[in-house]
Amino acid sequence: MRIQEAYDIIREDLKHVELEFKKNLDSDVYLIRKVGEYILNNGGKRLRPSLLLLSAKLCGYKGNRHIPLAAVVEFIHTATLLHDDVVDNANMRRGKASANTLWGNGTSILIGDFLFSKSFHLTVADGDLSILKLLSGTTTQMAEGEVLQLLKGSDVGKNEKDYLSVVTNKTASLIAAACQIGAILGKVSIDKEKVIAKYGMALGIAFQLVDDCLDYTSNNEELGKAIGNDLKEGKITLPLICTIKNATSAEKEEILAAIESDDLKGAQLSSVIGLINKYKGIDYTLSMARQYVENAKACLNIFEPNIERAALIALADYVVERTY
Ligand code: IPE
Ligand code: IPE
Ligand code: MG
Ligand code: MG
Repeated sequence: MRIQEAYDIIREDLKHVELEFKKNLDSDVYLIRKVGEYILNNGGKRLRPSLLLLSAKLCGYKGNRHIPLAAVVEFIHTATLLHDDVVDNANMRRGKASANTLWGNGTSILIGDFLFSKSFHLTVADGDLSILKLLSGTTTQMAEGEVLQLLKGSDVGKNEKDYLSVVTNKTASLIAAACQIGAILGKVSIDKEKVIAKYGMALGIAFQLVDDCLDYTSNNEELGKAIGNDLKEGKITLPLICTIKNATSAEKEEILAAIESDDLKGAQLSSVIGLINKYKGIDYTLSMARQYVENAKACLNIFEPNIERAALIALADYVVERTY
């Protein structure tokens, strides 16, 4: 199945999810609506709500609770993006100026807080304590991931294990939760619920591995974010970890200078990219991402083959094929 066909299955539901965003940004405080609508209207792949909707369908769910819950996972994601762009000094998001560039760091943080609070308000309104427990644990884990990255991000001694722990916490945990909520809604067996969460976790790790490659290989227009920002911010991701491990000491010095530079030059970025290519840092990271995607897809074998299962397989493939 092609990715577009996978999205077609949930096209109508996604429209309702978009309406749910609008409804929940309706605050008396004008700036909340303005910034919230700005970032949500600028697009985004809607990966997390799509996974929740497809997982709910795969698990046979027939009610209406999936719509607000899909909005919740996108709100949580958006809140983390608002905060993340402040932490990463990022000036571009979803092809436009980032909220922190337009309204400043304070506004971004506070609107992020609003979206987090709204998410829990909506989850409480849903009333399922197991979903509330899952999402509160997930947001705690995401915060831990971001803080761990802050602490260890530019540590050249950082190894693959530290890196994977950051990636699992900051990114994969929410993607896994989105999938698991679909299973909770469908009231499938605990085995199936665990397996679909495992699918989401493996997919989520692959998703961040690819994001970290795209930060070196894409371009601003296609990606909708400024490339090279990880190196600029001294954030060491897997393509660079792999390169540092294999580089000569002179090359390591050069990489270290780029990581520590407060004002990274284009030539420095190009030369680090040259070293990443020389030591096949992107190939290495992408092949690991492919392995996670294969593991994710294998999890779905527990389900009978059907259109939703095919869509979740297509989404998994898309994660490594995507260019933005
Ligand atoms: C960006 O997520 C943050 C990461 C976890 C890499 P997405 O790539 O899903 O962002 P949008 O929602 O499509 O803009
Ligand atoms: C994703 O990591 C962080 C979150 C989970 C919010 P990145 O910092 O790589 O995400 P982008 O590249 O800014 O979207
Ligand atoms: Mg970032
Ligand atoms: Mg990134």
